[in-house]
Amino acid sequence: MTKEQVIQGLNDDLAAEWGTIIRYTYQAAKSFGLPGAELRELLKPELQDELRHASFLTDVIVDLGGEPSTSPKRFEKPGTLKEMLEVDLRMEMSDVENYKMHAEWANQIGEMELKVKLEEMAADEASHAREIRRILKGM
Ligand SMILES: [Fe+2]
Ligand SMILES: [Fe+2]
Repeated sequence: MTKEQVIQGLNDDLAAEWGTIIRYTYQAAKSFGLPGAELRELLKPELQDELRHASFLTDVIVDLGGEPSTSPKRFEKPGTLKEMLEVDLRMEMSDVENYKMHAEWANQIGEMELKVKLEEMAADEASHAREIRRILKGM
């Protein structure tokens, strides 16, 4: 594992975070009715987490000597609330896997603090996934 590979992996994570920030902002605006109101309440605190993740990754990539991505990963825009949540659940679960993998990469290049932070971020995404699953169960 090289530092360049780690930077590339973190940049993919960062693009995913920018995409999630835009996706949640967009979805909150497109959420109507009572379940929509619940979704808006859920997305607000999660957006703060994603912004914190993006900001951390940007700082770390610069610190490692890389150029941080400012382009969001593209995302699907389904028409119903349930389909939106299914997209979100899928994305959160893929974020968990990516952070776990990149925590291991960080460990391999001796970046202990980064390893621990990425594991914490994997845990944040896992808790987002759990909240989304709860809402989906009731739909
Ligand atoms: Fe995140
Ligand atoms: Fe998340």
